[in-house]
Amino acid sequence: MSTADRGHWRIERDSDQILWLWADKADASANVLSSEVLRELDGHLTRIRAEAPRGLVVLSGKKSGFIAGADIKEFTRIQGEDSGYRLIHAGQAVLDRLAALPFPTVAALHGFALGGGLELALACRYRIAVGDERLTLGLPEVQLGIHPGFGGTVRSVQLIGVKAAMRLLLTGKPVRAEEALRLGLVDRLVGAEALRDEARRLILEPPPPRRAALLERMLSWTALRPWVVPSLTAQVASKVRREHYPAPYAIIDLWSRYGARGPAAFEAEARSIARLFVSETARGLIRVFLLQDRLKALAGKSAAPLERVHVIGAGVMGGDIAAWAALRGCRVSLHDSDAARIEPALARARELFEKRLRTADKVAAAVQRLSADPEGRTLAEADIVIEAIVEDLEAKRTLLQRIEPHMKPEALLATNTSSIDIGALGAGLQRAERLVGLHFFNPVAHMPLVEIVAAPASGEAAVRTASAFARTLDKLPLPCRSAPGFVVNRVLMPYLQEAMHAAAEGVPLEVIDAAAVAFGMPMGPIELADVVGLDVAAHVGAIVAQGLGRPVPDLAPLRARIAAGQLGRKSGAGFYPWQDGKAVKAPATGTAPEDLTDRLILILLNECAACLREGIAADADLIDAAVVFGTGFAPFRGGPLAYARARGVNAVVERLQGLAQRHGERFEPDAGWAGLARGAGEAQQPRTPPE
Ligand code: NAI
Repeated sequence: MSTADRGHWRIERDSDQILWLWADKADASANVLSSEVLRELDGHLTRIRAEAPRGLVVLSGKKSGFIAGADIKEFTRIQGEDSGYRLIHAGQAVLDRLAALPFPTVAALHGFALGGGLELALACRYRIAVGDERLTLGLPEVQLGIHPGFGGTVRSVQLIGVKAAMRLLLTGKPVRAEEALRLGLVDRLVGAEALRDEARRLILEPPPPRRAALLERMLSWTALRPWVVPSLTAQVASKVRREHYPAPYAIIDLWSRYGARGPAAFEAEARSIARLFVSETARGLIRVFLLQDRLKALAGKSAAPLERVHVIGAGVMGGDIAAWAALRGCRVSLHDSDAARIEPALARARELFEKRLRTADKVAAAVQRLSADPEGRTLAEADIVIEAIVEDLEAKRTLLQRIEPHMKPEALLATNTSSIDIGALGAGLQRAERLVGLHFFNPVAHMPLVEIVAAPASGEAAVRTASAFARTLDKLPLPCRSAPGFVVNRVLMPYLQEAMHAAAEGVPLEVIDAAAVAFGMPMGPIELADVVGLDVAAHVGAIVAQGLGRPVPDLAPLRARIAAGQLGRKSGAGFYPWQDGKAVKAPATGTAPEDLTDRLILILLNECAACLREGIAADADLIDAAVVFGTGFAPFRGGPLAYARARGVNAVVERLQGLAQRHGERFEPDAGWAGLARGAGEAQQPRTPPE
């Protein structure tokens, strides 16, 4: 070991002359392939080669799994294409040395092997894995706007063939044990206790190494590749646009040109990822990944475990929150003043369990954890009580005051209100410090964000506990201040309303939606209004406007449909007719007004600047995180304020001024832009991803 080594790897030699190389990154609970870890590996490989053992087994000294991937923090320090290339080329060279060892090498995996971790395993001659339900193998780089860079785009195709490899590479989705074996990604699955024995056996009696089946190899021939490329491209094009997400297109392009063969394929991989590293998309997606880590880290630990959850209100939200909490292991009781509402909620919960849990035992256990409580008997035992009844101040206040005396003194009291001030709800409580907003989004199972809303009276402990609870539920907590619409609904409303202004001016609905989708939104604002429910959108819009002292917008297209009972998806028709849960749309014909996209997006950005100025969330990064995880705002743009910075704050302000002259004062630039132009609320140093 050289003196500079921090001991990220350990090495043992046994009596069979087999070397066991343990990845065990210093001061970390999971392994990542930082430059330093790779450098140390390189030193070991040089010495190992010189030692000429009978074979080498690479395995992990961490309980959690093998290697989680590259060190994503390092990506944020890449300044230009050249430095990205150097970083990747150095990593490639280390794995090339591993692949070139002249004796059998085995990667012995458990838990996970992801990204660079799986690429390291691919550079070994054999792979075996503990075949339990934790096993997750994948190449998720595309989700960060890049692709594998340590030879993964080449070796994956060589090992499992182009079809299977492209599925891993293009979707970034991991595979589990059985599938990994079926694809040939691993040679064998074993029990944890047999991992070392099996690795030893492979070294002592090495079979011919696996490679893709002949037919699969033929597809990589120069003459056949042009026949395969169009279908791969069509698959990607049906999901994402090249200008938004260039990485999957680059992966196909690499294979199309080099057929996963020879040194040129590796070199092209390194050059391609270096280009992607400096793209806006990769910067945006890596930023979003680190924001997600920041929200996870914000949760901290709760003093007491929150095992028993009592939900009041078994409607759309209460029912789904109860189901989700039970799925995640809490014991949940569900109450409603109308007992007939509980049964359908339990039936929905069962569907969720069946969809998400793999075995009948687990479904049965989840069903057991969720119970109907029409009398409200378990209230007194709950660690957290979540109120999700109708959106009405008086009804909620009366309920909270009635239940408070029956709760455990240390229990947390939470409300899922989407628009009512938490301070107003807490007035009259004996211990208002334990009340917080726990604002889930609809549909609960799909939306990752939960706003943790604090009134001035909310105690720090309650906020911390609520955040920790959100993590228990595998959601991302976003601490914010109680103010009209909190963050997400506050910025979403002007965006939806602007779409309706455009509709009232006669811009076809499909054209409006297409403009937002072309910007990168997951769906257009008109369709989103239908999904939210036009009555809900109108109600929340009015409350937010009133709360901010603004005129309530009178939106004719919205008013007309609500009057006709067309409330959106839930009533079968809104702006669009709905069939089988899908909006029936005509093709977007007609030209969009030149300023349509900016009208939709900049009015949202303007509201973000206002939220920052008012301190609704603590900094610009948190506002970006709220809007990305709460609305799906074009993730590859890194968040609304990151987008504004990339475009230039002054340019955004000027454009808003132009829009204000043309369309009215709702576009007047907020005073918050001045702070952003000076760099206040700048992205903070990203936190280290948890290791
Ligand atoms: P919902 O109308 O589907 O359900 C409300 C339920 O509360 C009904 O089953 C009703 O019987 C029950 N209820 C009414 N008064 C009660 C009382 N005093 N005691 C016990 N149960 C009572 O409403 P939804 O949509 O589930 O909304 C619930 C809360 O969640 C509201 O505060 C709403 O603003 C909020 N929210 C709604 C979202 C949505 O998309 N629907 C999204 C995020 C928050």
